[in-house]
Amino acid sequence: MTVPVIAVAPLVHGREDSAARQVAAQIDGACRELGFFVVAGHGVPEQLRGDLDAAAREFFALPDTTKADIAMPRAGLAWRGWFPVGGELTSGRPDLKEGIYFGAEHGPTHQGVQAGRPLHGANLFPEHPPQLRRLVLAYLDALTALGQQVLEGIALGLGLPRGWFADNLTRDPVALFRIFHYPPSEPAADDWGVGEHTDYGLLTLLGQAGNAGLQVRSGDGWVDVPPDPDTFVCNLGDMLERLTGGRYLSTPHRVRNVSGAERLSYPFFLDPSWEATVDRLPIVERPPDDDAAAATRWDHASVHGFTGTYGDYLTEKVAKVFPELASGAGSG
Ligand code: OGA
Ligand code: NI
Repeated sequence: MTVPVIAVAPLVHGREDSAARQVAAQIDGACRELGFFVVAGHGVPEQLRGDLDAAAREFFALPDTTKADIAMPRAGLAWRGWFPVGGELTSGRPDLKEGIYFGAEHGPTHQGVQAGRPLHGANLFPEHPPQLRRLVLAYLDALTALGQQVLEGIALGLGLPRGWFADNLTRDPVALFRIFHYPPSEPAADDWGVGEHTDYGLLTLLGQAGNAGLQVRSGDGWVDVPPDPDTFVCNLGDMLERLTGGRYLSTPHRVRNVSGAERLSYPFFLDPSWEATVDRLPIVERPPDDDAAAATRWDHASVHGFTGTYGDYLTEKVAKVFPELASGAGSG
């Protein structure tokens, strides 16, 4: 089993022809079979990706005491900023990684900030390197656009109108971006850069900057995702599995960096609007077996069972990975 590579240029260029439909059919196949595919032909400038990688490396090379100037607790409920190695948990266990959390830049008058919603607010940018601010904001814009284009392909593949996601779920999407730095793992140690998990939202576009270590679940085994600096790894989150009644897979994945070198990665998450409720699509004929779905899932929680808005779902998930930041979080 390998992760299929899909050249999405016809979607990026807004084409409505047989080339776009062919891409949509390829995406549909990958979403049913593996829940993972590699996005080529995406049009995100190499210069932007390269400059961001260089700036991120500069930041992570700083001493922890300097990086702590933008430590996550300083952003409060906005849940942004830097966390040290071991500061994030997966299934209750600390990950061997440090990172910076970013999101769409919200000023004080943004309605989500005014309403006191978690995960809304201004980003924390470091003093050094100063260009990180500009690069992260440009990258958020570029990846939000690409994510919406991939969602157009997913809509077409599901037999929905092309603009279905933007019209129904992602008019004001929750867009989250992280930069992770995984120090090398000792080959004999029993540790994970990120333990097995699924992503929460609609889709993730992961830049790996040529660094190996990502593995995807396939049946009883794990498939290595080859690193390639020119493509993004796209995987579906829980909300697509829920929408499609399990036809599309939110596939578990994990990271262990045994390359002997530093590993940087750039996951970008395009999620439903905060206020959206994510209901099963009418095209799903047979509702999923909720208990069976939960029993086999990594966290024993079914994606089909919850009620509420996407914001509620996300808040509950993030509270698990950063328990000390969660006290005081309401659903806003
Ligand atoms: C994630 C994730 C993989 C990576 O952030 O959800 O799976 O390579 N990241 O950092
Ligand atoms: Ni993930």
